Amino acid sequence: MIRIVEVGPRDGFQNQERVIPTSVKVDFINALSDSGLQEIEVSSFVSPKWVPQLSDAVEVFVKIKRVPGVTYSALVPNMHGFERAMAVDVDKIALFTGASESFNQHNINASIAESITRFSPVVREAHACGLPVRGYISTAFWCPYEGQVKPSQTLDVAKRLVDIGVDELSIGDTVGQATPSDTQSLLETLLAKIPPSKLAMHFHDTYGNGMQNVLASWKLGIETFDSTVGGTGGCPYAPGAPGNVRTEDVVKGLREAGAEVSVDIGKLSKAWKILEVLGVT
Ligand code: HMG
Ligand code: MG
Repeated sequence: MIRIVEVGPRDGFQNQERVIPTSVKVDFINALSDSGLQEIEVSSFVSPKWVPQLSDAVEVFVKIKRVPGVTYSALVPNMHGFERAMAVDVDKIALFTGASESFNQHNINASIAESITRFSPVVREAHACGLPVRGYISTAFWCPYEGQVKPSQTLDVAKRLVDIGVDELSIGDTVGQATPSDTQSLLETLLAKIPPSKLAMHFHDTYGNGMQNVLASWKLGIETFDSTVGGTGGCPYAPGAPGNVRTEDVVKGLREAGAEVSVDIGKLSKAWKILEVLGVT
């Protein structure tokens, strides 16, 4: 069974030039909750100076209606973020680092090693509270500052995250440059050491390869995919990072390929209308 992590409320809203009103975010998330999605990444507990678009994370979490069975997760960069997230009872946290040093410095003002040292106590605390922990690896294929990233570099970061106890890794094509053959070669490297059940794929879609990359990953045993309704998304600290692969396409494309996907596309379209009328892209 395919698991889709809808990251639009986080990856999508962080990249809008204007700040989307909290009430719109809440309506959008409530509409998504009813569509059969298993997990929704609601917001980020990062510095509001770095990402002002998501400075209302607490308010959004307090106001959404939580549907039983749906996991409501959030991005957390450090212990401070974890404490803010715990105050509103998030279901799961997502730490984030990169496979390239320059991106990490731009995005979280830390080296890869510093970020992992910072994450270790957060993973321990999260597990003590019974929360699962995702670890994103951005620039897993390509870095906007350093160019192509070798699969061995991404594997090295993946192993370090698994070593500190991260439960699930999300492998990010942050700038959307991966081809299906890059996807195959990175996944073959990762799968030699990490079981497919621990891996999610997070494709941005610059050159229209997003859906092909999803299918290439599925053929290698991956069943968890990140995507955004309407194809919003991008990272403010990765120049040129475009939208994520569209959730509607992931549902349709995987179903056509023979996978079991329990998400209602009609309900996704209804949720998208809430943003479309505001001109969100
Ligand atoms: P820093 O400036 O190095 O942090 O930022 P610091 O520890 O020196 O603290 C500076 C100030 O920030 C202090 O406040 C802290 O309290 C505050 P002051 O004393 O100046 O008033 N602070 C915080 N406030 C609220 N929540 C917090 C927090 N932490 C510190 N958690 C930091 C380091 C990591 C905080 C910063 O760089 C940051 O927030 N970065 C986030 C960048 C981001 O969100 N990027 C987008 C998400 S990643 C992405 O999109 C990729 C992904 O989609 C996958 C893919 O596509 O590849 C996941
Ligand atoms: Mg992303």
